[in-house]
Amino acid sequence: MTDHVTNGRTLGFATRQLHAGQQPDPTTGSRAVPIYQTSSYQFRDTEHAANLFALKELGNIYTRIMNPTTDVLEQRIADLEGGVGALAASSGHAAQTMAILTLCEAGDHIVSSSRLYGGTYNQFNYTFPRLGIDVTFVDPGDPANFERAIRPTTKILYGETLGNPDIKYPGMPEWGNPPRGMPGYPLAEHIGLRKGTEGTETSKYLEEKRLFPE
Ligand SMILES: Cc1ncc(COP(=O)(O)O)c(C=O)c1O
Repeated sequence: MTDHVTNGRTLGFATRQLHAGQQPDPTTGSRAVPIYQTSSYQFRDTEHAANLFALKELGNIYTRIMNPTTDVLEQRIADLEGGVGALAASSGHAAQTMAILTLCEAGDHIVSSSRLYGGTYNQFNYTFPRLGIDVTFVDPGDPANFERAIRPTTKILYGETLGNPDIKYPGMPEWGNPPRGMPGYPLAEHIGLRKGTEGTETSKYLEEKRLFPE
């Protein structure tokens, strides 16, 4: 399990679940994360506003884009997952849509594990093809099935860490460390494709503490 150092102190996973990504309020000392109910933010002057909108300076612009409460959640998840950043969405389907529309455009192709949550299957089988993004479903039991389905237009290899509902493991370390005794196969790394990893069934806590003990 990874330990992180904050202000010279090493914080374990449990502590980071409670505190990562948050600084106590400097004015009040409030320990709990405040719920910022604002839709908009005050800019120092027009130059500050122009810099924020031009993304020349980091800061809050509008709550639909960023909010300090959501920011704590995003920083906390990134910390726990060991990521460089995180983006919170209002639902799993919204998160999948944002991730896939960022990486794919009409004419592109995805190879996906067939062991998917039903809503995701519908999104991949009906919604994305209507936008010109084709999805080929393969049995994730054998990584070669992914390789065989790759086309020149393939942008993403997609899978759930443990498929919902039959908890089938896709056999590739991109979708989580292989359980003991199961071989991993770094296919996406090997061919330079993006990996779409859906971790609903395996939170980082489960992955680190229980499912895949070190
Ligand atoms: C594995 C998996 N992915 C995605 C989703 C979709 O999430 P949401 O219902 O928040 O859109 C679910 C929902 O149950 C799920 O189990």
